[in-house]
Amino acid sequence: MSILTKHKLIETNATLLLILSFLVVTIGGIVQIVPLFYLENTIEKVEGMRPYSPLELAGRDIYIREGCYVCHSQMIRPMRDEVERYGHYSLAAESMYDHPFQWGSKRTGPDLARVGGRYSDDWHIDHLRNPKAVVPESIMPPYAFLEETLIEGDHIEDLLRTHQLVGVPYTDQMIAEAAADFRAQADPDSDFDGLLERYPGAQVRNFDGAPGISEADAMIAYLQMLGTLVDFSTFTPDASR
Ligand code: HEC
Repeated sequence: MSILTKHKLIETNATLLLILSFLVVTIGGIVQIVPLFYLENTIEKVEGMRPYSPLELAGRDIYIREGCYVCHSQMIRPMRDEVERYGHYSLAAESMYDHPFQWGSKRTGPDLARVGGRYSDDWHIDHLRNPKAVVPESIMPPYAFLEETLIEGDHIEDLLRTHQLVGVPYTDQMIAEAAADFRAQADPDSDFDGLLERYPGAQVRNFDGAPGISEADAMIAYLQMLGTLVDFSTFTPDASR
């Protein structure tokens, strides 16, 4: 019997085809899935990653509330055109503290995984207020109300505690200091040494340039941090994995 005749046997017998297909899929599945149970961690540890500061986390919450992820992804794929446009491809570790993750599935606007430091705070204010004022062809909706909505960080401890619950390594001290850290990051005249100790590299300034802490302060603190925590001038992928 030639190989083709044997194959014809399978192709003309639905039950046999079903059983053999099931076998093949099962073996393939086991080969892929079982090794994952024996890995301690599938996320490579990367220098620089830290839990988000209270203000950044509040900004992230507003980002999710406003559905920014509907138009923006936060995952740069390791393809040349993306890397040239957006920078180093995203590492798994860079979203390890994201609950829920913000990879996104649609890019009506650009990827935001490394938008931190790309524009000034003023640019962000102008852009959030009226995207068309800075990018005339923009179809992004205006979010001017963010700078008009003042926030006090009332529930910031609870927000950190919730993230702690799902595995983000916030310490009890970070939670106890959350409200103070929240205010300190938006006030360059405050005593922010503790904040920087707890959240290395946190940027401290009055992001929206207006008195009080607004939702725009939190949003811009978050945007300016995105993609800046890992120092890619010293990063080398761990080849042992
Ligand atoms: C309806 C789709 C849409 C939504 C929703 C949206 N954007 Fe955009 N966004 C765009 C488009 C399109 C651009 C590109 C043109 C521009 O810069 O305005 C853009 C650009 C941007 C940029 C500049 C990125 C770069 O690299 O130039 C930032 C930052 C940004 N958006 C933030 C946000 C934030 C924050 C939210 C939520 C509050 C949001 N966007 C919601 C469509 C959207």
